[in-house]
Amino acid sequence: MRLTGAGRVAGVMGWPVKHSRSPQLHGFWLEKYRIDGAYVPLAVTPNDLPAALRGLRRIGLAGVNLTVPHKEQAFTIADHLDPLARRIGAINTIVVRGDGSLEGSNTDAFGFIENVRQNAPGWSPTAPAVVIGAGGAARAVVVALLDAGVREVRIVNRTEARAERLAEELGATARFWGDWKRALDGAGLLVNTTTQGMAGEPALEIDLAVLPKDAVVSDIVYVPLETPLLAMARRRGNAVVDGLGMLLHQARPGFRAWFGVDPQVTPELRAHVVGGRGR
Ligand code: ATR
Repeated sequence: MRLTGAGRVAGVMGWPVKHSRSPQLHGFWLEKYRIDGAYVPLAVTPNDLPAALRGLRRIGLAGVNLTVPHKEQAFTIADHLDPLARRIGAINTIVVRGDGSLEGSNTDAFGFIENVRQNAPGWSPTAPAVVIGAGGAARAVVVALLDAGVREVRIVNRTEARAERLAEELGATARFWGDWKRALDGAGLLVNTTTQGMAGEPALEIDLAVLPKDAVVSDIVYVPLETPLLAMARRRGNAVVDGLGMLLHQARPGFRAWFGVDPQVTPELRAHVVGGRGR
């Protein structure tokens, strides 16, 4: 680490924060680009979040990322929000402006679409896309897909009323849970945004029979890197995109704002973040 008294400091606020991979990720880039700066984990309770964010300016931090469970609360605290963040209703990045005010943005949508573009270059937004889940992560993915030019985004969620509400709010459509035939018919992209398939959770129960073979299948879960959904899709010949790339790409805009370099997502970075265990 190259850290002098003039170094810039950013970090990630979460509760708990010890599982966050962001310090490793930003630390790799700080080293790679030989930047005088640091990126640190900040364990902040939900109760303390308002004071902690207001304190950023006072202690001279360049900004922070927000992770679970702070994304929605931080949205209500930031002084400035870009239109994308407003549509998503949550933020994961704060930049402290020169005047001390807090600029909030959501880079999860960017991270999602950049990951698909980098790892499935053949994907085109012409066919319908299917998003499983209707929580905060789904919101960012749906907005990303609509902004990428997908005209029909179908949301499927266990609690169907939630899928319908989200679809209506964002300009997507809803499909019934379990009616995979109708949901997947003619789709060009399928994305899981639920926690199903994460280590310790059961696999997502889904029937891929009608999913076109040229559709791309993606998961935002990245532990394990190959979820049961991705394994099933790969076996039947679909292109698959794992969730780690979304984490890596969502970090780019913050790093650029705090440290002045647009960092690259490379195989070396991936290997560093998975600790050499992933593929
Ligand atoms: P996040 O912000 O990470 O998206 P969330 O808002 O809690 O988290 O949303 C979790 C998503 O996973 C929801 O779509 C949830 O479905 P419900 O709306 O029906 O709760 C989905 N999910 C969680 N557990 C699930 C399960 N066992 N089967 C299917 N979907 C599940």
